[in-house]
Amino acid sequence: MQLRSRITGTGSHVPKKVLTNVDLAKLVNTSDKWITERTGIRERRIADSSEAASDLGAIASKKALQSAGVKPKEIDMIIAATISGDMPVPSTASFIQSKLGIKDAAVFDVNAACTGFLYGLSVADSFIKGGKFKKILLVGTEILSRFTDWKDRSTCILFGDAAGAVVIEATRKNSGIMSTHLHSNGNLWDLLYLPGGGSKYPPSKESLRQRLHYIKMKGNETFKIAVKTLEKLTVETLKANGIKPSDLSLLIPHQANLRILQATAKRLNLPMDKVVVNIDKFGNTSSASIPMALDEAVRTGRVRQNDYILLEAFGGGLTWGSALIKW
Ligand code: ACO
Repeated sequence: MQLRSRITGTGSHVPKKVLTNVDLAKLVNTSDKWITERTGIRERRIADSSEAASDLGAIASKKALQSAGVKPKEIDMIIAATISGDMPVPSTASFIQSKLGIKDAAVFDVNAACTGFLYGLSVADSFIKGGKFKKILLVGTEILSRFTDWKDRSTCILFGDAAGAVVIEATRKNSGIMSTHLHSNGNLWDLLYLPGGGSKYPPSKESLRQRLHYIKMKGNETFKIAVKTLEKLTVETLKANGIKPSDLSLLIPHQANLRILQATAKRLNLPMDKVVVNIDKFGNTSSASIPMALDEAVRTGRVRQNDYILLEAFGGGLTWGSALIKW
């Protein structure tokens, strides 16, 4: 049997503080009704000022390690998928390594916005198949509330803070990660971006005045492209594995907007009870949303051995990606 990689443990963590739509309606001109109808979001979690992305990520990682029955010292690579890392340098994966007490490992971050977890999964899958790495910790962790413009009603209603983690190990069984599919179109970068703080617009009084350190999004254009692109992507993924939508036990999509999730399910002719949805409780948590939803599905017994599970995401870059897993 060929060498494959499989997810052997999952974990997640969210901050305690809940911010409801009703709370948001006190900050900007919006309503619970508008947010619920247009996005499916009812509430999201907001990190405490003492918490950074690696703090949430380390807690989710400990749970994933525990569920895999893997000791931290066995991990030989840590990948953190994030767009809201602790610092530009070092990587958030370095902080997670330190917090878990892992002595030596290859560590780095991946930035593919909301597709970050699937880019990380594909990278981990390749490293495992290459044979050099045996146990990889992949963490999606975000504190998007620090980069959210709380005066912009078109974006501040969407995002939340969370972390999800998985342990990935080698297997010779005919199961695990069957295929991954990554895409991007850099010409569409200006549909979703965070301009300030990098080498183009370093922090300055002017950058602060122009509110450049917050996420900007052309939501409606992004929405339309996401729906069309995700349809093509899911067809591509099923075709690559010679399976039909009806063979899927679960669809675990990035939680960006309930209407996008429903449109993808409809185009696949999948009933909504085969779609993992938790956007109502956590909003859009970017790289954290898929590992969080996967952890919830595993812990609530929705995932069984040999089930086909399709993961898919779409986000800033623009980037999009998918993975088919035989559990
Ligand atoms: N409350 C009330 N009204 C609002 C709000 C709000 N919070 N936000 C916008 N509106 C208004 C707009 O001003 C507009 O008013 P107008 O018609 O008078 O001009 C109207 O509502 C409609 O605005 P749209 O932007 O067209 O609303 P839409 O139905 O597209 O919903 C949303 C907006 C929720 C952002 C949606 O477009 C979306 O989810 N887009 C996709 C997001 C996504 O997938 N991003 C990629 C992943 S994120 C990542 O990578 C980090």
